[in-house]
Amino acid sequence: MMLSTKILHLLAFFTLSASCSQLPEQTHFRLPGQTVQNVLDSDFDRFVQEILDEWNSTAGLGVAVVQKNPDETWNVETQGYGYAKGDGSKVTEETYFHIGSNSKLFDVFSVGLLISNESLSPRISWDSRIASLLPEWSLNDSYTTSHSTIIDLMSHRTGLPRHDLMYKAHASPSDMLAQTKFLKLSTGFREQWQYNNIMYTVLSYLPERLIPSVPNYARYVKDNIFVPLGLHETTFDTERIEKSGYLAQGIVRDKLNKTENIFGRGTPRVLINWNPSTEDGNMISGAGGIVMSVRNAATWLQSLLLLGKNPTNGKTVIPPEVVQKAATGLTVLEGTATWLETSPSVYGGGQHRYSYRGRNIVEHTGGTPGFLTVISRFPFENLGIAVFSNDGTYGQHIMQAIKWRIVDQVFGFEPIDWNARYKSLVSFQYNQTTTSKLPRPSGPASPSVSFFSIAGAYNDPGYGYIDLCLIPQQDEDIDAAKQPDSCQALLEEVPTRLPDTINTSVPTFVARWDKLWTTHFIFEHFNGNLFNATALASHPILDTSLVPANANANETYFTQKWELASATAEIVVDDGKVTGFGLTGIWGPGPGVESPRGENVQERSEVWFARE
Ligand SMILES: *[C@@H]1O[C@H](CO)[C@@H](O)[C@H](O)[C@H]1NC(C)=O
Ligand SMILES: *[C@@H]1O[C@H](CO)[C@@H](O)[C@H](O)[C@H]1NC(C)=O
Ligand SMILES: *[C@@H]1O[C@H](CO)[C@@H](O)[C@H](O)[C@H]1NC(C)=O
Ligand SMILES: *[C@@H]1O[C@H](CO)[C@@H](O)[C@H](O)[C@H]1NC(C)=O
Ligand SMILES: *[C@@H]1O[C@H](CO)[C@@H](O)[C@H](O)[C@H]1NC(C)=O
Ligand SMILES: *[C@@H]1O[C@H](CO)[C@@H](O)[C@H](O)[C@H]1NC(C)=O
Ligand SMILES: *[C@@H]1O[C@H](CO)[C@@H](O)[C@H](O)[C@H]1NC(C)=O
Ligand SMILES: *[C@@H]1O[C@H](CO)[C@@H](O)[C@H](O)[C@H]1NC(C)=O
Repeated sequence: MMLSTKILHLLAFFTLSASCSQLPEQTHFRLPGQTVQNVLDSDFDRFVQEILDEWNSTAGLGVAVVQKNPDETWNVETQGYGYAKGDGSKVTEETYFHIGSNSKLFDVFSVGLLISNESLSPRISWDSRIASLLPEWSLNDSYTTSHSTIIDLMSHRTGLPRHDLMYKAHASPSDMLAQTKFLKLSTGFREQWQYNNIMYTVLSYLPERLIPSVPNYARYVKDNIFVPLGLHETTFDTERIEKSGYLAQGIVRDKLNKTENIFGRGTPRVLINWNPSTEDGNMISGAGGIVMSVRNAATWLQSLLLLGKNPTNGKTVIPPEVVQKAATGLTVLEGTATWLETSPSVYGGGQHRYSYRGRNIVEHTGGTPGFLTVISRFPFENLGIAVFSNDGTYGQHIMQAIKWRIVDQVFGFEPIDWNARYKSLVSFQYNQTTTSKLPRPSGPASPSVSFFSIAGAYNDPGYGYIDLCLIPQQDEDIDAAKQPDSCQALLEEVPTRLPDTINTSVPTFVARWDKLWTTHFIFEHFNGNLFNATALASHPILDTSLVPANANANETYFTQKWELASATAEIVVDDGKVTGFGLTGIWGPGPGVESPRGENVQERSEVWFARE
């Protein structure tokens, strides 16, 4: 998903029955018999309001806190804050948020249900090889293809980096399976944790492939997890929830001048539902397709703390060893701690685990256009916290500052000013990114062929076709006849669809890139055969009371950049003809993983588009 800086996280491999019976003794941070205290009180309301103000957020938050009392009853608090939608409606405990990658745990649990299913013939295990379950499975390396297991996919260690820009919204799992063999791997098998959404799409294909009566993944999860756990406000059917009015809208900051004030409001814009889906789900369901209310997040947290039981009727829905497996580290997500108070972090399946000021925490985050979520639990202290944000610009920091404040309060720790830490982190990262990007040299070298001859069609078997069209420069009378016919319509739509993005004093190519997260690509000339490549998402501007339509009456779309470190396209010219271009900086590798090395551009690129 559109995972930002502090990316979304996930699997496990040891004897779970043993870990169940050997759960460490509960650490007592309360006096024996002392009941838990409420957290979401009026002081907390003020705190949340201050945070929203400080970040100039026009969005809102849903918060759930569950704590188990010594008498085994639960203290459940759920509350909404701020705005859910552009029409000014407020967040309530019933507002649904896209939980993004927090959906991955449902994928792992559905695989866990298949593994625990004694009627399944043949039985499968965490170590079953994908090639034995899905004969068409293939990655771009024969050893990896034959040896990859369920565990490898869940714990992000196949060697495949994200490649999040290659899939379309309407791809089917079988389309995806047909394409994965063409994607370049960035490390050897099991060498490194590298977050990967595509592998969760592959896992989500297992229920329907192994049980003929299962129509699809989404129905399997509904019947076997949502319904039996009583999660009635949790669904893949985002279209129904949107129609009902309960789905929050992601709110982002258009025209934010970060140099002027990085925490400015910009022009707030609401995003359309990024994932229109029915109850049958789609290719992204396993990796990130669920919407949920915070009222249900509370129930979900209770079920997790109860190791898979329905908190109301006590029935086991997910076998406890499956819950434990997911929460047990297999891969190393962060080998060194980010903060003084946190430990290094390990990843299980749809869960990562680390410690905070000496307490074990199991959590995951989610990030999709306009939505950031965190679902955390302290399994030994029976504390669960969920914070959902629809501030698509700074939600990931706002939600963490709020989460830590709750944690510090519940444990009675000296409060840390997490808000100030995140604000300086944001500022620091912005400064770093801006200083690391070089501006175009003042006297750039021309490419070794004319710009016109670069325009045209290219193809990568994994990513698909791309048609580059040259945008006319200032005062230039472009001869459209020199470009493919398909460019006419695209060039006409650029001013409307991609406002504020084209610098007409730099030779720039534009292409449609109609995938799940993006709509276009632009390649701006840098120097010689190098171009700066940026993936863009063009969003329709919705008329909302939050942003009066008269603000910019002639604008119908706004543009968001896909946050890439620095993507570069290098064209290759052979004998006066362009043979293709390589892209680097776009495959989304794990920490510390470098771009490919090689003799030539094709080998050195992460994705190679050959001239058609
Ligand atoms: C278990 O497997 C049987 C036999 O394939 C199937 O009918 C049943 O639906 C499965 N149940 C679950 C929860 O997977
Ligand atoms: C690996 O990918 C390349 C380029 O996409 C393709 O030509 C090749 O056939 C693939 N190899 C395998 C083993 O799938
Ligand atoms: C952003 O703000 C800075 C500092 O005020 C200013 O110099 C710059 O021109 C602004 N950029 C845009 C695109 O308005
Ligand atoms: C945003 O927040 C900053 C402080 O964080 C404040 O100085 C500024 O006035 C606020 N408002 C806008 C519209 O930027
Ligand atoms: C980032 O740069 C701005 C402007 O130079 C400066 O005011 C700010 O303190 C810097 N932030 C950090 C965290 O270094
Ligand atoms: C443009 O690409 C070049 C070459 O990769 C890189 O050095 C530079 O930092 C990029 N500039 C921007 C603004 O992204
Ligand atoms: C909208 O109007 C402004 C100001 O007149 C102009 O600068 C801008 O180019 C127009 N945008 C479109 C998409 O026509
Ligand atoms: C457009 O590009 C020129 C040449 O590189 C540069 O001087 C100028 O600042 C750019 N304009 C904007 C708005 O980025």
